[in-house]
Amino acid sequence: MCGIFGYVGRDGEASGIVLRGLRRLEYRGYDSWGIAVARGERVEVDKRVGKIGEAVPSLPSSRLGIGHTRWATHGGVTQPNAHPHLDCGGRLAVIHNGIVSNYDELREPLARAGHRFQSETDTEVVAHLLEDAVAATPDGPDRLIVAAMAVFRRLRGLNAIAVLDAGHGQLAAVKSGSPLVLGWSDGGQLLASDQTALLERTRRVTFVEDGQASLTTEAGHRLFDVATGREVPATVTELAERAVAGDRGDHPDYMTKEMHEQPDVLHRLAADAGGSAARLSAEVAAAREVFAIGCGTAGYAALSAQYLFASVAGRRVSAVAASEFAHVQPFVGPGALVIALSQSGETIDVLEAARAAQSRGARVLAIVNVEGSSLWRMADAAIPLEAGPEQCVLSTKSFTAKLATLLLGAHALAGRLGEAQRLLAATADEVARLLVDGRRGQIARLADAIQAREHLFAIGRGASYPLALETALKVKEVSYVHAEGFAAGELKHGVIALVEDGTPCVALAPRDDTYDDVVAGAMQVRARGARVIGVSPRPHEAFHDHIAMADLGPASGIGQAVVAQLLGYDLARRRGHDPDKPRNLAKSVTVK
Ligand code: AGP
Repeated sequence: MCGIFGYVGRDGEASGIVLRGLRRLEYRGYDSWGIAVARGERVEVDKRVGKIGEAVPSLPSSRLGIGHTRWATHGGVTQPNAHPHLDCGGRLAVIHNGIVSNYDELREPLARAGHRFQSETDTEVVAHLLEDAVAATPDGPDRLIVAAMAVFRRLRGLNAIAVLDAGHGQLAAVKSGSPLVLGWSDGGQLLASDQTALLERTRRVTFVEDGQASLTTEAGHRLFDVATGREVPATVTELAERAVAGDRGDHPDYMTKEMHEQPDVLHRLAADAGGSAARLSAEVAAAREVFAIGCGTAGYAALSAQYLFASVAGRRVSAVAASEFAHVQPFVGPGALVIALSQSGETIDVLEAARAAQSRGARVLAIVNVEGSSLWRMADAAIPLEAGPEQCVLSTKSFTAKLATLLLGAHALAGRLGEAQRLLAATADEVARLLVDGRRGQIARLADAIQAREHLFAIGRGASYPLALETALKVKEVSYVHAEGFAAGELKHGVIALVEDGTPCVALAPRDDTYDDVVAGAMQVRARGARVIGVSPRPHEAFHDHIAMADLGPASGIGQAVVAQLLGYDLARRRGHDPDKPRNLAKSVTVK
């Protein structure tokens, strides 16, 4: 969720450096933003409601600054609730990603002691606790970190918190659940919620682990163990060049850029240079039982794994929404494999499920896009998606890359890898055509026609069922149309009551054993007035609109996903919404 960023350095433009870092982190939350810099012994703050856009903070030059982009959890979207939050003396500024779950019991005694609160947030409690702790700690170079660790030990919840101390010219930070990365650079030391925001200035980073705190000065970072207060060595990792997020170039937004990167990503995966398919199939072959987990779109990739491994390799993979994993834990133990799917590698429900699986003796295989993320580092083994940085909040190329990785793995397990590589290359070519040929205009005209509809349904059977769910999610999260995906067989058990004249209904009908039944379902909703949008290699009288798709066999989900992305995108644009930063969402969900 929220994005935090900090800088200490010789380059006096701290507010500019922090602002650029926040722009890279804004996909983590964009309800409000704020920057604080040190000016002498005091802090100056500029914080505002809404997205950063072209804003320029009005702050003095400084060598020390922190900044925050907010996804509101405690307190409405207001300027006082925006971060950073200050202590009463205006010497300490605090930014935070997470939830201090015991903030209310900590707040009471502070208020009684005379601390003046400006906001409704849980975070501001930390600023006032620090004020007292710093005052109670003997002066010296480690005064801030000693005080900060004392405060952090009193906080409950999953948090990453950073504090700027103007008096000492230092930054302190702590991690217990939410991500935190330190950046080392000659021009100045940095900290951020994720490495993408650091790459403009350095590729040398330290991933802070849970229960660790850091003290940052111009000279560098020092790492501490919060429980003991002892200093610990800081491991520096050099990040790969490919982790650098490019800007959107001539594309109108990141969603368009990332949709158009899919053919190259799929061709690269089809080449399987890294041997990921063999690794995935070997892990599945060696396991007594296999679970696949994820959240949101990644959860639908997990469900696709269940259908792919069953139909291609005759192997059972049980898909579970990561947020519901607790209920299958009794069946997870030694010999079990948990495939954890995630773009960001920071989704809290996935991390917790993976940790629970490991604690029960199961093996965790991560299929993840962000190398170096928490999931990447905690998993027993990890397969990179190599889709490249994804800035748009919507998962597009990282989702089709997941489907491709699973497709290759299932075929490798069945001893048919070559066949899958050829199919995936053909699918990449079909996607490249779909993005630019007549169907692109067809989908745009369809969006013109249905943009005023407030409800949309998507149906599919078998391997198309997870894609019906994904179709609905893509439309929902970017156009705010109420969309639902169903297993087509569920229609007559209640859902069809929602269909009325003109209700758009996407029917996913690949040329497989589900075709006849899906088309039958399409005929039934058409009979009740629905406008049927058929996504299929074959035309049918049930379809008002037929989006022709090459026969992609077990890779059909990839083509279906791209149609869903384009339809969602076009509806969003016509309804005047920002496709990169939809309301109420964030790119990685780090709070429960
Ligand atoms: C998808 O477009 C959404 N951004 C969301 O559902 C996302 O898939 C989910 O939050 C999981 O994120 P992850 O892949 O980073 O774990």
